[in-house]
Amino acid sequence: MHDLLCAVPVLESPRLQLRSIDRGDLDRIYALHSDPRAMRYWSFPAWTAPQQARDWFLRQQHFCAQEEVWPWAVVRREDDRLIGLFTLFAVNRLQRRAELGYLLDSAHWGRGYAQEAARLVLAYAFDALELARVEADIDPRNSASCRLVERLGFQREGLLRERWHVAGEIADTAFYGLLAREFLRG
Ligand SMILES: CC(C)(COP(=O)(O)OP(=O)(O)OC[C@H]1O[C@@H](n2cnc3c(N)ncnc32)[C@H](O)[C@@H]1OP(=O)(O)O)[C@@H](O)C(=O)NCCC(=O)NCCS
Repeated sequence: MHDLLCAVPVLESPRLQLRSIDRGDLDRIYALHSDPRAMRYWSFPAWTAPQQARDWFLRQQHFCAQEEVWPWAVVRREDDRLIGLFTLFAVNRLQRRAELGYLLDSAHWGRGYAQEAARLVLAYAFDALELARVEADIDPRNSASCRLVERLGFQREGLLRERWHVAGEIADTAFYGLLAREFLRG
């Protein structure tokens, strides 16, 4: 297993540094993905065994090598604490689009960290990767996530019914899209 998941550029804002993920982050990544509150509307159930973090790392490494996934660890600059993950995935350079995924430690919600991190990743997506469109697939009941993307300029483009089956629960998708020219940079 290589130590680095993949090399992504460091992105910085006043309170945050977004950097590459390495093997040393796996304990924190396990903690994030095993928090039932943070995983309530995720596409798979909360992890229950640390081995799941190691398996995830190996799977992601494969997609990173194809440049289909660009993952960042969100680190708080004041104490160097990893507080979340932001990812561009399903990156299609030919069609100039990608999906945005994110997860923040529930102890750090409500402080604008997600908004700050999202602006860095979206600026990178539009300016450096020259994408034209970024998408987000959100459970319509996940109001914090809907609020986050709407503040950034995303438009709700449709409702996809019964799209997810997670731990016996069926969920819809509120499908959001953001065009480069609509991005509210803040
Ligand atoms: C989605 C998620 C990242 C949003 O996190 P969040 O903390 O609510 O979002 P932000 O960091 O942008 O914080 C915004 C809130 O902080 C408040 N805030 C406090 N200080 C702030 C500051 N300096 N700047 C901006 N907002 C600030 C805002 O008023 C806002 O509150 P409101 O939403 O009640 O109006 C978080 O809920 C999460 O990780 N959920 C679990 C994973 C998940 O569901 N991911 C999405 C899958 S589609």
